[in-house]
Amino acid sequence: MEQILRRLEEKREAARAGGGARRIDAQHKRGKLSARERLEVLLDPGSFEEWDMFVEHRSHDFGIDKSRIPGDGVVTGFGTVSGRLVFLFSQDFTVFGGSLSEAHAEKITKIMDQAMNVGAPVIGLNDSGGARIQDGVASLAGYAEVFERNVLASGVIPQISLIMGPCAGGAVYSPAMTDFIFMVKDTSYMFVTGPDVVKTVTHETVTHEELGGAVTHTTRSGVADRAFENDVEALLELRRFIDFLPASNRVPPPFLPTSDPADRTEPSLDTLVPANPNKPYDIKELILKVADEGAFFEIQPEFAKNIVVGFARLEGSTVGIVANQPMVLAGCLDIDSSRKAARFVRFCDCFNIPIVTFVDVPGFLPGTGQEYGAIIKHGAKLLFAFAEATVPKVTVITRKAYGGAYDVMSSKHLRGDVNYAWPSAEIAVMGPKGAVEIIFRADLGDEAKIEARTEEYREKFANPFVAASRGFIDDIILPRDTRRRICRALQMLRGKNLANPPKKHDNIPL
Ligand code: HXC
Repeated sequence: MEQILRRLEEKREAARAGGGARRIDAQHKRGKLSARERLEVLLDPGSFEEWDMFVEHRSHDFGIDKSRIPGDGVVTGFGTVSGRLVFLFSQDFTVFGGSLSEAHAEKITKIMDQAMNVGAPVIGLNDSGGARIQDGVASLAGYAEVFERNVLASGVIPQISLIMGPCAGGAVYSPAMTDFIFMVKDTSYMFVTGPDVVKTVTHETVTHEELGGAVTHTTRSGVADRAFENDVEALLELRRFIDFLPASNRVPPPFLPTSDPADRTEPSLDTLVPANPNKPYDIKELILKVADEGAFFEIQPEFAKNIVVGFARLEGSTVGIVANQPMVLAGCLDIDSSRKAARFVRFCDCFNIPIVTFVDVPGFLPGTGQEYGAIIKHGAKLLFAFAEATVPKVTVITRKAYGGAYDVMSSKHLRGDVNYAWPSAEIAVMGPKGAVEIIFRADLGDEAKIEARTEEYREKFANPFVAASRGFIDDIILPRDTRRRICRALQMLRGKNLANPPKKHDNIPL
């Protein structure tokens, strides 16, 4: 017995040592934590239960059979974040570069299967050289096993990827199919083909960071949702993020007690919208003033900034916020903002998170770039996402709601449950100037006539009353009362029970 216990401890020691002190030092010198240190920062102290510490690879080629490290380059198991269960895998770059063998993949799929069974999120800390070269096709099979589970778990349990080192080739497709991707600046990258292949094929010279670093993916490609300065910041922010997420699609979003009164009024909001309809204002001010104690976790803050999406809390419960941002492109919808918001709306709908939409949208962005880039299809994604969503939907139009964009932004006609407008709302087919130039084309050139027609149009259509008289707007509310009115609407909607017609799945325009 004593002998077995000693052997057990030796094996555990070997697993904990990973690729050895030299490689762990190298990891630290790059500013990266080790796989186990990362779990310590992420999880509640003492909560980690490790599985499969003794799993070893089964390969023989190229001398790898002489080197078997217990755990095989990935630490897996479960633990808690703020007391709530999560399953995790943390790839260990010090063991064969964190590369994925058949055995390594089996460890990951085991925790994914268990997470599905019990209904808890899966968090992947990715730091890997990709497919284990010595494992050959068995490693590719391992990746595909993970991919299949990513797909089956989609919409059932939240899946989050934190990229903390290399993630290249086909390996990027597992994170890509998870719900959220966070990256660490300067030490992580994701690309399908690396700088060397790019150089050979397209003759472009590009660094790892430029091609697939955290800044690239959070500002240009939109592949990643947030970029953080270092491992510790990324892990601590991930903790904060988990607090917003439901454990699965079977349970309601988490509740965090708040001392912020639901009926708090915010008089400063009465002057948020400038008198001049062409002047911008910051929609984030509204979000922060409405949310419980300003609790807001923004998704993709540096990408498609003309729309703001993220999680907030109202009366302690998570809500998804979607808001046009008049500060960027006047809040127009374009390809990137439509894609960004559509994916977010679909996440909320999968996981029973009510959606609060703030609307100030002058329309879709014009231009050949947009049309050639398929704004028709991408804009339809957002329309589709709002229209199919069955979660509680509360909409507040703060200013412009013009044309098709009015319909898209969670309007009454797309089964919006409660649709409010501020007195400053302008709900019409288009803005006064554009409208007059079309319907009074004959008067163009006559300044006085055009001015009078514009005023007439503004008086008639650029207000919330026409929409309210049709019942498309449930009430015109004072800006200061926005939090109170949304909270009451969400209370009323707690028992909402709406389902879409039975189908295998829908066919969202991809
Ligand atoms: C086996 C690997 C490995 C791999 C790295 N290592 N990648 N072992 N399979 N894929 C090992 C190295 O041999 C080395 O072992 C240790 O990990 C660290 O690697 P270094 O090269 O010394 O580190 P660094 O200079 O930081 O470079 C990291 C790297 C580089 C950029 C990731 O190792 C690299 O380019 N690796 C290959 C990446 C790749 O092409 N992978 C396949 C992609 S295709 P020692 O013993 O010296 O410490 C793919 C397909 C997925 O993944 C398919 C899904 C469908």
